[in-house]
Amino acid sequence: MTPKGKGGAARSRSGVLDSAARRARIDPEDMAAKIAGFPEQLRAGAAIADSAVRGIDPTRPRAFVLAGMGGSAIAGDLLRVLADREGVVPVHVVRHYDPPAWIAPEDFLLFSSYSGETEETLNAFRSLKRIGCRAAVLASGGTLAAQARKEGLPVALLPGGLPPRAALGYSFGALAHIAHHLGVLSDADRRLEEAAKAVEEKAATALLPGVLQSRNPAKRIAIRLIGHPIMLVANHRTLEPVAWRWKGQFNENSKHLAWVSSLPEMNHNEVDGFVNPGAVIGRIAAVLLRDPEDHPRVARRFDWLTGYLKKRNLHVETVMLEGDDPMSRILAGVSLGDFVSYYLALLNGADPSALPGVTALKRALQK
Ligand code: PA5
Repeated sequence: MTPKGKGGAARSRSGVLDSAARRARIDPEDMAAKIAGFPEQLRAGAAIADSAVRGIDPTRPRAFVLAGMGGSAIAGDLLRVLADREGVVPVHVVRHYDPPAWIAPEDFLLFSSYSGETEETLNAFRSLKRIGCRAAVLASGGTLAAQARKEGLPVALLPGGLPPRAALGYSFGALAHIAHHLGVLSDADRRLEEAAKAVEEKAATALLPGVLQSRNPAKRIAIRLIGHPIMLVANHRTLEPVAWRWKGQFNENSKHLAWVSSLPEMNHNEVDGFVNPGAVIGRIAAVLLRDPEDHPRVARRFDWLTGYLKKRNLHVETVMLEGDDPMSRILAGVSLGDFVSYYLALLNGADPSALPGVTALKRALQK
């Protein structure tokens, strides 16, 4: 991946992200180690899903549907974009209490909740009997895993004790393995291994906390983003789910406002919004996540947008993902974003493991 942007700010704050003492103070639960463990998780995912897969009839479904929220849904988005590009079975992600009415017995439903306690996912699970399709569960335990076992459904049991978003390697690895078994994704295990190797090499040489700021693109991007509301722009057909992962990680790890704008759709409305409120527009940073296989017309739209947003006084960062396989590029993009969110958390002085807002809301809704 090749991040480009202004280097001046990074030079002037040189070293701020290289302090191990600062890291230990802001990140007492060591989110950095969990982010660094992403490639190992990808490798472990297939084995985690193996026993569940043995209980799943491999007949190709009409549609593959993942029901989940937040960190437990994003693996489904990553699979969706791969299936849209190369698959024969549509993949849908349901982030709601109720699965859509069209789901039928010839579809496959995967219920994904790391805690196994998320109310939307548990409620969706209750529709399974009525729908009558094949299903499986991805969880580290909780009510969801217990109910699935009671009903004799296959359960891929994820290792516990992690923030859900820090288990994405496990959940994507397991999901890819199940999707391969059902004919939804080709050659999953080999592709996962190649992606894991590429992500690991990049992290070790460029992204880990031990790599100095002067040579660490993730630290340098975070420094350029500090203080800006962040707009993530990506092509709907290639990297949009990666943009959603960056957004979620900026929100949860960095406690930082971010949103996703999808191409080409945003060219038909949002481009005319960069006018008011004037005081806000000039503060925004746009991160353009680009893929070498973006449609040529989408690539031209990215080029135009770069100049346009700069003229409107936005700070613009471009990240071009590299690698031969779309799966490798997607997972490399996830890993880069996770590290950027981590360094942005350190710059914001925010504990990347704490989720005060999400936790308070879940508690309030339990009453
Ligand atoms: O990352 C997080 O902690 C959240 O986005 C959770 O994933 C989300 O609240 C759903 O919880 P769970 O993953 O346990 O189903």
